[in-house]
Amino acid sequence: MVAREVSGAPQSEEDTPHFRPWVPASRVPPAMSAEERTFPEGFTFGVATSAYQVEGGIENDWAEWERAGKLKEPHVRCGRAVDHWNRYEEDYGLALEAGASAFRVSLEWARIEPERGRYDGAALEAYRERLLRMKARGLRPVVTLHHFTHPTWFHRETPWHTPASVEAFRAYARACAPVLKGLEALLITLNEPMVVLLGGYLQGLLPPGIADGPKTMRALENMVRAHAAARQELQAVLGRVELGISQNMLCFAPDRWWHPLDRALVRLGAHAYNHAFHEALVTGKLRVTMPGVASTRVDIPEARGSCEFIGVNYYSRAHLRFMPRPPFIEFKFRDKLGRGLTDIGWEDYPEGFGQILREVKRYGLPVWVTENGIDDRDGQRRPHYIHSHLAQVLDARAQGVDVRGYLYWSLLDNFEWLEGWGPRFGLYHVDFDTLERRPTPACAYFRTVAQGRRLVPPETPAPQPSAAR
Ligand code: FCB
Repeated sequence: MVAREVSGAPQSEEDTPHFRPWVPASRVPPAMSAEERTFPEGFTFGVATSAYQVEGGIENDWAEWERAGKLKEPHVRCGRAVDHWNRYEEDYGLALEAGASAFRVSLEWARIEPERGRYDGAALEAYRERLLRMKARGLRPVVTLHHFTHPTWFHRETPWHTPASVEAFRAYARACAPVLKGLEALLITLNEPMVVLLGGYLQGLLPPGIADGPKTMRALENMVRAHAAARQELQAVLGRVELGISQNMLCFAPDRWWHPLDRALVRLGAHAYNHAFHEALVTGKLRVTMPGVASTRVDIPEARGSCEFIGVNYYSRAHLRFMPRPPFIEFKFRDKLGRGLTDIGWEDYPEGFGQILREVKRYGLPVWVTENGIDDRDGQRRPHYIHSHLAQVLDARAQGVDVRGYLYWSLLDNFEWLEGWGPRFGLYHVDFDTLERRPTPACAYFRTVAQGRRLVPPETPAPQPSAAR
């Protein structure tokens, strides 16, 4: 069924994604010259975290998911995470040590509204105190309202595929607004809504564990509405805001470059996954066309012009292959260039980062890299990963993409969702028994670049692919 439909021609100009998601490598412009390798004053270097992955002691839908044995290893729990809730002062110090001047955190909805309509004043107060300290220490807060997790009541009482979710998120944002007053924070309503939807509503791998195309589309529409509603609430209290979402953006490529159906999948998939949400926030029109999987076409006027920036989370390239049997799409990380996959098994493909940054230029808005990082368990590849990805930021800037900041994911090794405690993305290595934090080689490198505002190569040579695995 997918085969017949994806090969169908678009019906109108509006149906056609207005960009080419896949650019052959030969068309990627060459790197800049050495003397241009500087970042302007005002460009922000920072680090990123999320509440559930670092704070510890949170009871929410993910904690339930773990108890239901849904992680890769069913006995694994997030539990105390890396105890950031108690060690936040130390962690701000570590961020400063690494040269950061911004720190991305998320507020945990389940702490703030443990029961529907009951707000926990002490939790709100604790977040306020932490954010004020962060700012006082010279770190600009970057605050996400929703980073994958929900209070346990949410999926039962107001799930995303029902209109009640919009009002629930609005009320939560209203409760958060006073916490954010006077901070001049960069605000992110939703982290990676397409990951929540694809994983939680289409594949059933993440909470709430639904696998239903039409519900996915209703949930998507409501998430766009919820973003707009939260924005209204925040604006009402804070006045002018600098607000957006963080979008997971993959560089999609056809598994068989010559195969028309692989190429069609890339075109439709890249539009749906990478761009449809931001397009809705810019234009008020939500358009998703994934024939046989999920499609929608609705106008959401209140979403039009509802973000000040485009938030990009970039990690890798993914190859798509059409399959003649369900689920019709095969999704693979491949080591096409022989660089060695990262330890989590993703392709290290900085060129795709440049491509994505050039693609988002069309929105005409400032761009923030709200996440970019590598799972590198011995820490030897990380400086090179950062170097090659920052080179793409500079190239994109030189080509007129208004990239304002780069937040490395993550400050610390932390709880990596379905993967549990295996992956290590941190600038700081964390001993998960003692919770001791130790700098990886990338700390000094990040500091050198951030403080000097010059992109220099790492001092140590890049490990060879075999040694890096
Ligand atoms: C992103 C998530 C973040 C972390 C990184 C590795 O998709 O936003 O929480 O898990 O991947």
